[in-house]
Amino acid sequence: MMTEKRRFEEFDTKFRDEFYRLLEARRSIRKFKPDPVPREVVQRVLDAAMQAPSGKNRQNWRFFVLQGEARDQYVTLSQKSWLGIKDVLEKRLKPSLYQFTERFFFTLGEAPVVILCYSINDKEERYHTSIGSVYMAVENLNLACVAEGLGCCTMGAPLEIREDVDKFLKVDQRPEYRAGEMELLCGIVLGWPDHDPPKAPRLSEGRVEWMNSSN
Ligand SMILES: Cc1cc2nc3c(=O)[nH]c(=O)nc-3n(C[C@H](O)[C@H](O)[C@H](O)COP(=O)(O)O)c2cc1C
Repeated sequence: MMTEKRRFEEFDTKFRDEFYRLLEARRSIRKFKPDPVPREVVQRVLDAAMQAPSGKNRQNWRFFVLQGEARDQYVTLSQKSWLGIKDVLEKRLKPSLYQFTERFFFTLGEAPVVILCYSINDKEERYHTSIGSVYMAVENLNLACVAEGLGCCTMGAPLEIREDVDKFLKVDQRPEYRAGEMELLCGIVLGWPDHDPPKAPRLSEGRVEWMNSSN
């Protein structure tokens, strides 16, 4: 946690440069070493996640951290679920993406940690604000992983097996879930990187429009 004093100090240019370097260095990691990630390290990246802003400061994120046996059970679930959806996805996805998705469902890149991220979408806040708030936390977690030397990949793939995941975590028994206010948004696979993929290219064209700008 930042102290009051630190908060009002100017960050120097070295800090600024390092920060941009960290953003540039982040990439999705999909292959991991088998080494476990100490719980305190996982806790630190979760604490970083929860530094994120959220609509009305509701902090409506909910994280489920799977390690060890729970993680192994999740992989089994992921593999079984794949058999149920593969025919549908084969028609829907490009062959290369289909193969990639299949491989990932089967191994999760051997990630020792899987985090499933949910949003609480109650009537206190607009739906998209609730969803966006959780994703802000997810990005914080992605960046904290870089700072820790960890790798991670945010994954929409678990949404393909949403109901199985809800049952696996027993969230379907919670009152907020029954009220239709608890929603799986993504998974994050996390561990020590075992590859160094190139930076996925970034496009700037058409992404930003400056209105009434003098330069
Ligand atoms: C919401 C979201 C869902 C994603 N889902 C998947 C996924 O299911 N499987 C996967 O391999 N990568 C997934 N990714 C990772 C993207 O493919 C990746 O971020 C993108 O290709 C850019 O690469 P980079 O993260 O290395 O910069 C997802 C990313 C986001 C933000």
